[in-house]
Parts: sequence; structure tokens; C-alpha cells
Amino acid sequence: MTAGDNQYTAGGRLRHLLTTENLSRDTLTHILDTAESFIDFGQREIKKVPLLRGKTVVNLFFEDSTRTRTTFEIAAKRLSADVINLNASRLSTNKGETVLDTVRNLEAMHTDLFVVRDSQSGAAYLISQHVPEHVSIINAGDGRHAHPTQAMLDVFTIRQHRQDFHNLSVAIVGDILHSRVARSQIHALNTMGVPDIRVIAPRTLLPTEVERLGVHPYTDMHAGLEDADVVIMLRLQVERMQGSLIAGEREYFNLYGLTRDKLQRAKPGVLVMHPGPINRGLEIASDVADGDHSVILSQVTNGIAVRMSVMAILMGGRQKPDR
Ligand code: CP
Repeated sequence: MTAGDNQYTAGGRLRHLLTTENLSRDTLTHILDTAESFIDFGQREIKKVPLLRGKTVVNLFFEDSTRTRTTFEIAAKRLSADVINLNASRLSTNKGETVLDTVRNLEAMHTDLFVVRDSQSGAAYLISQHVPEHVSIINAGDGRHAHPTQAMLDVFTIRQHRQDFHNLSVAIVGDILHSRVARSQIHALNTMGVPDIRVIAPRTLLPTEVERLGVHPYTDMHAGLEDADVVIMLRLQVERMQGSLIAGEREYFNLYGLTRDKLQRAKPGVLVMHPGPINRGLEIASDVADGDHSVILSQVTNGIAVRMSVMAILMGGRQKPDR
């Protein structure tokens, strides 16, 4: 069994969210549509609904995070859940306790939903195999494997601007090799029917046989950006790199940094996206990150609605009857 197979119950109910791989188009669309119903909550005077009242959500972060942890916390609070935030510096795993023992202890406190980030690929899946039936797990990023809610908020942001996915060209640029975000985006975009997904990177930062994911690889950024509708920039994941995979930061920016000049290759109304954290002057020029094409901060705002949607669905508040 894989993480993708472990997400649904035998009855077809979405129980965990571990990866966008093998997530049906119906499920993806249901998550996006449900997020749509939460999108204006941020502007309301009372930003809360009681969908998760009485539920306990634990944000279990073994790796640094700004956007994901905060937006999960806001999302859970807007759904009226009780929320506990734990990060690596405060956990008993530092005293030798295993992750599973930590989870078992938190379960003993009647936690309903764990949001897990870990530097190890497969961590959320492992935990999902050891929790009782009424407990759900959301993968908030595991190693280089998956970051499903990031991919969904990215797809949600694209859908706000481009209703039809069947004629889109999406270019994902940068450190594809180490990127859980890219993997999750590729699965989600393929499922949504995007016909042209390009990955642009130096050869050292492209996985071997990347074409098998259903993408077109490019090492020349100018060629890869030609007529793109959406350009998603990625951070160099230096914390996951072993050895030197780029010649130098200046050369990397010259070849793969997104500048206004390079962006002219794309379609005139191109969307510029980035999951964050952004490194200005390394993968993206400041004037592009802050420019008219950029929807980078909308991605962050949308992350709250998408995470509300996923939590509400897993906790039974917005389930579809079948897969
Ligand atoms: N996009 C993303 O995962 O950002 P954080 O690392 O800040 O959570």
C-alpha cells in the first residue's frame, strides 16, 4: 500500500490527506469548491463557523514553517477547533522519544486531527498507519515527497484566474529534484487535465526520468517559458542538497532566475507564482515578485480557505458521499 492508497476509507471517504497522487479529480474539485465557500471569511466581521467545534487539532511541526503552520492554525481556528501548536524545539523527540510515541501521547489527549510536517519523506504516511480510525492526518510537507495542501492552494489560485485547465501551459522552474511542492503540483495539475506541464531546471536539479511524471523537461529557461500561462518558481532547497548542484548563485540567477526580460517569453497575462519562502535575487527578481503578474500573496491568503476545506472534509463536515 502507498500513501496515495491510504487516504480513503474502504467506503471511499477521504480520511487522510497525504499526497495529491491518486487523489481523484472529483475529490480535488470538491476540495477546491469547498474552499471557494470559505474564501470570503477573511473579510467578515465574524470570521468563524462552528464546523469543527469540539474537535482538537494538533499542528505537529518537526521542520521550520511560516506560511503552512500559520495558515493551518488560522484555518482550524476559523472552523472553531481547539488548536495546539507544537514545534520541534519543544517536543520530547529531542529527549529520545520516537515520533510515534509522541503521536500516541497526543492521541491519548483525544486529538482528532494531526497536521504533520517532517524532513523525512513518508513521515505522515507512517503516522497515518498507526492512528486509530477516528483520527485523521494531513501531510503539511514530508521531505521531498509531498506537500498536498500547497499544491491545492496553487491549483485554487490558478482556477481563480483561468477557469479552463484544458488549454493551459504551466512551467515549474527551479529545484525540481528536491521539491515536494513540484511533485504535488504535477500530480494535481495532471489530474485536473492540464495538457502541458513543463519543468525547467539545470540537469543536476531534474530527477532522472522526470518525463514519467507527465511533464516536459527543459534546461533552457527561455525555451521553457515560451507562451506559458503560468510560471511557478521554486526555492533552491539547499537544506536537502548533498554536494554542489549549481555552479554558483550568480550563474543560477542568470540562467534560471525569473526576470522581467525572461518573463516576456510567456503569454502577456501570465501568472507568476511561488510557494515561498522566496529568495529575491536568487530565483526571482524583486520587481517580478512584487510586479503586476505576481499572485504570490494571493496564494498565501488562499491557503487558509483551502486548509479550512480539507479539515472540514476530513472531519466529516463537508464529505462527498463517494469517491
Ligand atoms: N510554502 C511553504 O510550505 O512555506 P513554509 O515553509 O513557510 O510553510
